[in-house]
Amino acid sequence: MASAIQHLYTILLSVVLFSLSAAEPIPADWPEQFHSVLFMNRSGSLQKLDLWYDWPNGRNFNIIQDQLNPVVDYDLEWNNGTSFIYTLHPSDRHCEVVHVSVGILRPNWLDGATYLGQEQVDNFLCNVWEKVDFIVYYEDVLTRRPVKWIFYTGYTAHVMTFEVGAVLEDPNWQAPVYCFNGTEKKRSVRGHSFGSLMRGKVDAAAYAL
Ligand SMILES: *[C@@H]1O[C@H](CO)[C@@H](O)[C@H](O)[C@H]1NC(C)=O
Ligand SMILES: *[C@@H]1O[C@H](CO)[C@@H](O)[C@H](O)[C@H]1NC(C)=O
Ligand SMILES: *[C@@H]1O[C@H](CO)[C@@H](O)[C@H](O)[C@H]1NC(C)=O
Repeated sequence: MASAIQHLYTILLSVVLFSLSAAEPIPADWPEQFHSVLFMNRSGSLQKLDLWYDWPNGRNFNIIQDQLNPVVDYDLEWNNGTSFIYTLHPSDRHCEVVHVSVGILRPNWLDGATYLGQEQVDNFLCNVWEKVDFIVYYEDVLTRRPVKWIFYTGYTAHVMTFEVGAVLEDPNWQAPVYCFNGTEKKRSVRGHSFGSLMRGKVDAAAYAL
């Protein structure tokens, strides 16, 4: 009797192990709220980017500083498709309000990505996935945190910090008054901005209004 059970156990165990080894890894969902500092590289132009992802409140903030440039770009995205893209610096104040047809990324936005295997990047052993014409995404095998991603344009994010559960206080999500008075200075939004790329290639066109 005991050996029959043991035998059954062995079979079950090997089935489990087999299915584990056969299944390809899938990327972890993004936490519903986090703060991340990213170092961005676009063909050698470097940026520091603060990403405040806040799914429950339907908002996402990309705060972007070009290397040694005091004028910080704020890209505040709401899940209803409205983005406020503005600066606060006294020397160069402007705001553009942009409407796109999709909201912010869902936590499971990487679903359906194609597994490409493992690779050592930025000194971390990573699982790698690709979404064709959109992104290649690297996740640390051990902690399942994102390490790096590369947009199809080559624009690259290196993840420096990843604070799960960090939330930016509400007052910081208030776009400046000159976004609302209709006199805001128009500027052409880069179609290949971080925000437009994160919303997917389809919307890059809408973003580049
Ligand atoms: C940025 O990317 C370029 C390639 O586009 C590369 O040559 C350069 O070394 C990168 N710079 C840094 C600081 O990673
Ligand atoms: C979307 O939400 C933001 C923040 O509540 C608001 O300022 C904006 O007017 C809304 N856009 C639309 C199209 O309703
Ligand atoms: C709109 O905002 C700009 C920038 O702050 C300001 O100079 C202008 O006076 C404002 N216009 C109105 C009608 O409030």
